[in-house]
Amino acid sequence: MSKRAHVIVVGNEKGGTGKSTVSMHLIISLLEQGRSVGSIDIDARQATLSRYIANREARKDREELALALPEHVAVPPTPDREADEARLQEVFDHLAARHDVVVIDTPGSDHYLSRLGHSFADTLVTPLNDSLIDLDVLALVEPGTMKIRRPSQYSEMVWETKKIRAMRGERKVVDWIVLRNRLSNLDARNKRDMEKLLAELAKRVGFRVIPGLGERVIYRSMFLEGLTLLDLRRKILGFDFSMSHVAARQELRGLVDAIGLDR
Ligand SMILES: Nc1ncnc2c1ncn2[C@@H]1O[C@H](COP(=O)(O)OP(=O)(O)OP(=O)(O)O)[C@@H](O)[C@H]1O
Ligand SMILES: [Mg+2]
Repeated sequence: MSKRAHVIVVGNEKGGTGKSTVSMHLIISLLEQGRSVGSIDIDARQATLSRYIANREARKDREELALALPEHVAVPPTPDREADEARLQEVFDHLAARHDVVVIDTPGSDHYLSRLGHSFADTLVTPLNDSLIDLDVLALVEPGTMKIRRPSQYSEMVWETKKIRAMRGERKVVDWIVLRNRLSNLDARNKRDMEKLLAELAKRVGFRVIPGLGERVIYRSMFLEGLTLLDLRRKILGFDFSMSHVAARQELRGLVDAIGLDR
């Protein structure tokens, strides 16, 4: 019997907002919970997620450390669009039938593979840097008045993929979550402006905003090791555990809880 996984797509048409960072940490968090995870890298040109997982596989002591791994497939684009889409569909069907959750990392630009990937989402997680510049792909904001003029390209794209799902006859609507990333305590005014605009936009475009991830070295320092702060409990030599890690662990739990897999 084929099992239908819960599908989490991590997407934002803007580059460098933390999609791959969130994908990595989400995958490891879900594995830590004892779930089986399939993962797909659609951004296979940059291949950040694929390299991270290769780094994790390469850890010589991974058996000893009991490092869990997802079943991971990269789907790089070729000049043949139809073949690419067929391949992504095939990889997706394979993983969705075998795992509890499928996590898909997407590129920071509009691409047909990214659109197809988005159409599989039960949950769409959009990391957003806490800056008005990054808000621009979600909505056009009028300078001066700070009023939202209209939703912009990425919001429209998500809307389009909702239609594709409806045409396929899927009844479940996508749960769209916006996750503020790299939050810092500096610049309180910008933070307030963002909060207000996001709350307004959430109602208009149909997403929910959840507490985000702080700007923390621990989210990037262990990339080459293929580790995350969640692995540190196992006392890996050379990494110190600190208060920042405790906070980061809470932030990740907040994200996983917000997705609400057991609901
Ligand atoms: N919460 C965070 N704290 C510290 N650094 C972060 C955080 N989130 C992301 N970064 C860093 O920001 C940079 C961009 O992150 P990442 O590669 O995850 O973004 P992306 O959206 O996948 O980018 P692209 O669109 O190019 O695929 C990386 O150097 C990453 O380590
Ligand atoms: Mg990326």
